[in-house]
Amino acid sequence: MSRPGSNSLGLLDRSLVFITGKGGVGKSSVTAALGLLAAKAGKRTLICEVDAKGDVARLLDSEPIGFEATEVRENLLLMSMNTEEALREYLRIYLRLPVVAKLGPLAKTFDFVANAAPGVQEILVVGKLCYEVKEAKYDLILVDATSTGHIVSQLASPKGISELVRLGMVKDQVAWMEDILYDSSQTSVIVVATPAETPINEALELANRIDNETDVHLSALVVNKVMSELFSKSEEEFFISLQDPKATRVFNRVISNDVGLLLRGSNAALEMRRCAAPYVERLVASAGTVPVALLPLMFGVGSGMRLVRDLGEALAAEWDELLWQG
Ligand SMILES: Nc1ncnc2c1ncn2[C@@H]1O[C@H](COP(=O)(O)OP(=O)(O)O)[C@@H](O)[C@H]1O
Ligand SMILES: [Mg+2]
Repeated sequence: MSRPGSNSLGLLDRSLVFITGKGGVGKSSVTAALGLLAAKAGKRTLICEVDAKGDVARLLDSEPIGFEATEVRENLLLMSMNTEEALREYLRIYLRLPVVAKLGPLAKTFDFVANAAPGVQEILVVGKLCYEVKEAKYDLILVDATSTGHIVSQLASPKGISELVRLGMVKDQVAWMEDILYDSSQTSVIVVATPAETPINEALELANRIDNETDVHLSALVVNKVMSELFSKSEEEFFISLQDPKATRVFNRVISNDVGLLLRGSNAALEMRRCAAPYVERLVASAGTVPVALLPLMFGVGSGMRLVRDLGEALAAEWDELLWQG
């Protein structure tokens, strides 16, 4: 699963990093955590939410943000992708059409074109991101990308269009995007999964598709929500010994909570960890030289800044010098 690429480069030393994976695995949370880490390290960072659900804004305890990049913390800016706004911006910048303003309801024309031609929506998303790289207003752009499947067509869209249209302006317009997107020192993808059979299989399948169907560099894999080892083997044996009904009765007298319930809870945690282990091992084995980070399932930290900060600390601890060089 590894192509010759810029593996020696830090994960956040690139200009454009896509974070993808199946829905619910923690893409938005990992993106927010990486963004916070980078911003704290002094990198001017833009996070782009492609699905525009506002999850990253919520995670960073911010108000919902639109297409216009807005600073939500020091060095950390946020924007929501909007393909119609991206098209309007494109027309304004590249065609310098004063008539754009007079086009009236662009949405109608836009819907027609976007639905008629394959790859139009995708190229508008990728085009806006590559444009921001070219403008170099940020040190790093993190993309809270679409989930499995759709991301492949997005990443492959400039290639698809340049194969379709071999001549003229359109070809020139996508060539510079390809230069950014398919250069492993500038752009990479991180795939996130959770430690269970289907998400791990899907993550491996997605990683292979990114490798085979696009020229974008896969720089890392993340397994999020891994049940931590809550206690040692001897503590585990002790807890099991407490499950004797007589011992439980004694404990229930001393402790007001139902000890049986607590013990069953600790058993469930152990079981979760045991069930997940083979899938995590499989992913690590298949990853080859691609670095893998395991992030713990966090308890009682909610789904805002505390989760983002804790995930950031876990990421920094796992990857340390892999995040950036020097
Ligand atoms: N390591 C973690 N521990 C506990 N909860 C987490 C963790 N990572 C993400 N979550 C929670 O899981 C849910 C889905 O995460 P989210 O980042 O929105 O996933 P995605 O963007 O992939 O759909 C959110 O409620 C989030 O707060
Ligand atoms: Mg999300």
